[in-house]
Amino acid sequence: MTIIDRSAEPLTVYRRSWGDEEVFLTEMDRIFGHCWQFLAHDSEIPDPGDYVTRKMGRDRVIVARGEDGEIRVFLNTCRHRGVPLCRADEGNSSHYRCSYHGWTYTNTGELRGVTYQPDVYGKNFDKSKFSLFEPAQVDSVCGLIFATWDPEAPTLADYLGDAAWYLQAIVGKFDGGMEVAGTPVRNIVRANWKTEGENLSGDGYHTMITHATALELGLFATPKDLEKLSDVVNPRFTGRTVDCGNGHTVRAQRLPVEVEGRKFWGYPEDMWEQFERNLTPEQADLMSCLSVNHGSIFPNMSFIENFKTNVDGPDLHARYIRITIRYPISATHSEQVWFFLQPRNADPEWCRLSSLAYLRTNGPSGMFELDDTENFVGISEASVGDYARTKPVDYLGGLHHKLTPPEVGWPGRVVDGDRTEHTLRAFHRRWNELMKVDEAATPSIEV
Ligand code: FES
Ligand SMILES: [Fe+2]
Repeated sequence: MTIIDRSAEPLTVYRRSWGDEEVFLTEMDRIFGHCWQFLAHDSEIPDPGDYVTRKMGRDRVIVARGEDGEIRVFLNTCRHRGVPLCRADEGNSSHYRCSYHGWTYTNTGELRGVTYQPDVYGKNFDKSKFSLFEPAQVDSVCGLIFATWDPEAPTLADYLGDAAWYLQAIVGKFDGGMEVAGTPVRNIVRANWKTEGENLSGDGYHTMITHATALELGLFATPKDLEKLSDVVNPRFTGRTVDCGNGHTVRAQRLPVEVEGRKFWGYPEDMWEQFERNLTPEQADLMSCLSVNHGSIFPNMSFIENFKTNVDGPDLHARYIRITIRYPISATHSEQVWFFLQPRNADPEWCRLSSLAYLRTNGPSGMFELDDTENFVGISEASVGDYARTKPVDYLGGLHHKLTPPEVGWPGRVVDGDRTEHTLRAFHRRWNELMKVDEAATPSIEV
């Protein structure tokens, strides 16, 4: 799929995008009806019969590993009268039995049992016509399971495009892969589903303001911390932001130090060799001296690889990897799900430190999350007014930033600039392409 590269041009979005129910319903059809959506990590359903319940847009789905070992996704609704079949967040079952009239399905989706069938439907009732509904396509990359309702959608590999290179650098660098630690945490947020995706697409601009208290508490590296790592500490953090195409984005911030060779701080040194082996040199450069790395996979998945520093010890602490998805509920409400991933076979003490760092910062109750959510709620609340909804929000930051030289070898449209809005523009431009908004009738965006 080709998109027009216009991320270096100014962009205006109208505030109704964050609070208008008509816009929201159009999004459900034109975006969530067609895009690939992240559902689960395959470590959550390792054995035959395992399932988790998730959502695609507003639709409830079951992500299941069948008796045959295959991963399938089913609409979580009985073919008879529509009662949900699985009500728990997770479980293991060879069959799903409906609580209303007892129709029973295999975990491969076939209708197997119909209560009082000869009496109610006759002996010749064709159960094969009542298998569970499934998305048009299901696929995975690096253990991350996605699905789409659209049979015409490109393959997952084509949909992710250049973003797959960055996902692989984050979750694909460990011998033995990664696993989701614990059950993902869910929370209803009084904010439009796009607010966090836009922020994590590459908003480095807010960090020192929104998270000022976290800074004061020492949750970020201070120059003193960095002096332990290098004799040469620069005055400011540097980084790059990437428009990967299709609305997918990445921001990578580098610690402001000069060192010889590649350093994967935040991970035990005995893991560094596997990163060099499992990553290309260019991906390893991305991970070297990393401060924070985050991005969004359009429409509603985001990831972050981060660490906190120096609250309860002299050394840089364990890094952590987190994925979030935001299920749309209404124009002003969404449900957020946090996935905490850890490398399999990692040192248990390092895993404990990684968990603590996650919980204090980017975990569901972490300081960064609380800071950010207050802004996201505010955007939605301030965008529903009849006057405000007609007013623009301008995305002008970083228009003057330079493209990174191609020799660096990172895919996508890479910009040398840590505080830029070009990835935010990429997110909203993709939204506009899919919405095919009639500008004259319903102005939501100017392109
Ligand atoms: S609604 Fe499921 S068996 Fe009737
Ligand atoms: Fe933030």
